[in-house]
Amino acid sequence: MAAMMIVDFQNYFIFILLCIFSVLCYHLFFMKQKESKLSFDLPPSPPSLPIIGHLHIILSLLIHKSLQKLSSKYGPLLHLRIFSFPIVLVSSASVAEEIFKAQDVNVSSRSLPTSEGSLYFGSSSFITAPHGDYWKFMKKLITTKLLGPHPLERSRGIRADEVKLFYSNLLDKAMKKERVNIGEEAMKLTNNSMCKILMGKVCVEDAERVRGLVAKTDSLTKKIFLASILRRPLEKFGISLFKKELMGVSNRFDEVLERCLVEHEKKQEEKGVDVMDVLIEAYRDENAEFKITRNHIKALLVDLFIAGSETTSNIIEWTMAELINNPKILEKLRGEIDLVVGKTRLFQETDLPNLPYLQAVLKEVMRFHPPVPLVVRTFQEGCEVNGFYIPEKTTLVVNGYAIMRDPDVWEYSEEFKPERFLASSQEEDKIRETVLKYIPFGSGRRGCPGSNLAHLFIGTAVGVMVQCFDWRIEEERVNMDEAAGAVSLSMAHRVHATPVTRNRDLLT
Ligand code: HEM
Repeated sequence: MAAMMIVDFQNYFIFILLCIFSVLCYHLFFMKQKESKLSFDLPPSPPSLPIIGHLHIILSLLIHKSLQKLSSKYGPLLHLRIFSFPIVLVSSASVAEEIFKAQDVNVSSRSLPTSEGSLYFGSSSFITAPHGDYWKFMKKLITTKLLGPHPLERSRGIRADEVKLFYSNLLDKAMKKERVNIGEEAMKLTNNSMCKILMGKVCVEDAERVRGLVAKTDSLTKKIFLASILRRPLEKFGISLFKKELMGVSNRFDEVLERCLVEHEKKQEEKGVDVMDVLIEAYRDENAEFKITRNHIKALLVDLFIAGSETTSNIIEWTMAELINNPKILEKLRGEIDLVVGKTRLFQETDLPNLPYLQAVLKEVMRFHPPVPLVVRTFQEGCEVNGFYIPEKTTLVVNGYAIMRDPDVWEYSEEFKPERFLASSQEEDKIRETVLKYIPFGSGRRGCPGSNLAHLFIGTAVGVMVQCFDWRIEEERVNMDEAAGAVSLSMAHRVHATPVTRNRDLLT
């Protein structure tokens, strides 16, 4: 009897606890929402689950596709919530244009979850920096002295050397009739070139270690991206995700980059040669508009490695996959390259402006397989968009993937058709970008500052692979499935193909 009473008492106690917890949850998650709904009209919201709201959609494996489905059913401007924290989902060019034109400054911060003391997505990072003095100073430096037309011209020799190595390596595999993991080779090419552009030739051994670290950050970046959407609820519950993992990667980056920084400081007679030199110059400038620190230098290098490597190598892999699956497009492209570049010298990046079909192919790949399918920002202040009120601190998610496959804007939107870009003049392309139908590099002042460098990397790598080799696969077609849970849209199955030489060795 006594035992029964104890069990009853325990059940009763659990019941009371559950009641208290439910009331707390109700207040925490719903009362706040009701208040806000009374004072303004939020954009329409699709059905949600109790308490968690639309969390299950955000946690789906192919987020960009789940969100695309949601918007095609419920509309291009939606209000979602994770618990009580608001997200605005934009899936049409016209709404994106309205936001990036009228609210560009207001949405020019990302509010990613930064980790104090970490170089990687830490408080010194450029990618996570709020739109303030530090970001403005660095942005100017990046667009003029680091990734602008002049510095890119200066680093042309580095890229040319790396492309020759890339070609030699493929040629070697062709001679041995070995299969090539195209994504892996593309990653080596972009990483090697990036290391030399950013850190010069002083730190060759360190560059090797940086390459290893960049490869390791891939899965962590995915988690951080998810955390950027879930940032506010996580903060509310005091959950600091991945701190240990983040600090581990950051410490290893710090060790390598600090050593490289010291090496650079020693050889200061030769100024402004690579990105690190330029940053040291800014760091030493007493009259600079913003006084950057050593941590800013190291964090920017980490940012550039992370932002530039995987995105670029993924596009090279998607392009080769599309070309292998579309032999007619491959033949047409090869015809153009043979005509312009010929068969007696190796393709080089100065050929790119003379190859309109190659440019059309690359634009179509970036429309169809955008490496960064979702652009995430934060509304700093409350504002009106499309007749609806957006509260301050709302997370903005622009689904570039959905916009660039929108059947109302793109004819045959689900088909790979480079010709759509060939028919259009440069003028028309510009219009497309300004009305935000084509946004693989994001938009507004926080848009990608590395797009020119990316075009050079991708165009030259694809140019060489098409000019010099036929590509044989064991299957009938390349499997074009997208990898689940990726931030940068990558292929679910790596492309393995055997190169077969078309020309004699073009380096001899
Ligand atoms: C195909 C290759 C690439 C694609 C598709 C791409 C795409 C993007 C996108 C969509 C964004 C966010 C833009 C926004 O919020 O509106 C971004 C930001 C950024 N990208 Fe790229 N990117 C590529 C290559 C590169 C390269 C090669 C670099 C530099 C080496 C780079 C550096 C950056 C940086 C630093 C940011 C942050 C900009 C800021 O916060 O102001 N990206 N990129």
